Amino acid sequence: MDTINSIAIDGPAASGKSTLAQNLAESLGYLFFDTGLMYRAVTCAVLDRNGDVNDGAFCTRVAETAQIDVRPCSVDDGRQADVYIDGQDRTWQIRAPEVESCVSIVAAYPGVRKALSAQQRRIGLRGEVVMVGRDIGTVVLPEARLKVYLDASVEERARRRFEERTGEDYAAVLESMKERDRLDASRDLAPLRIAEDAVVINSDGKDADVILAEVLAILKSQANGG
Ligand code: CDP
Repeated sequence: MDTINSIAIDGPAASGKSTLAQNLAESLGYLFFDTGLMYRAVTCAVLDRNGDVNDGAFCTRVAETAQIDVRPCSVDDGRQADVYIDGQDRTWQIRAPEVESCVSIVAAYPGVRKALSAQQRRIGLRGEVVMVGRDIGTVVLPEARLKVYLDASVEERARRRFEERTGEDYAAVLESMKERDRLDASRDLAPLRIAEDAVVINSDGKDADVILAEVLAILKSQANGG
């Protein structure tokens, strides 16, 4: 298989994937693309239509028909990108606990995954993309020149998410994250797992710049034939 000049970053919730990917994209001049936004946007669109997340056919129709646009960030309010659903800015709504508690149910439907991963693959194949998700190295872009699986303990991940959010309870964040990880790792299609040729990095107690330096060193040794 020919390799593509893109990088895959996978791992469980809040393991630091987006931060690493953003830093890496900036260092390399690549595009940063977070596939989780698309699964969140479909889930948000299902809830907006008063749909039932347990209805796979309905969720699939929404994935196939909702107009989801992920665009470069246009507002300086801490967002990583603009997320529009059917022409409306829903960047912050897709982060709401209601969406977060249903997203892994919606993301498990084969029809939803088929609709989204085809779009993601097209973007990744253009090259020079740092793509973040759960199945990028295994399914969406197995040709990626480098695959990183970023892990951390569930307690540390829940603590990070808790610190990012206001008005949420730590115990609830921890429980929701454990359930999401369980669903993501146990679904039949494209479950969260470590690609055979992925580099595994544990981010527990590590600063973002240390992890970035680690990945840049791996890329450098790759370029030198190592
Ligand atoms: O930011 P966080 O790591 O908490 O989650 P995310 O990357 O925004 O992903 C939200 C959810 O979308 C995950 O829990 C998965 O259920 C789903 N997802 C997926 O199934 N496949 C991907 N490539 C990306 C996300």
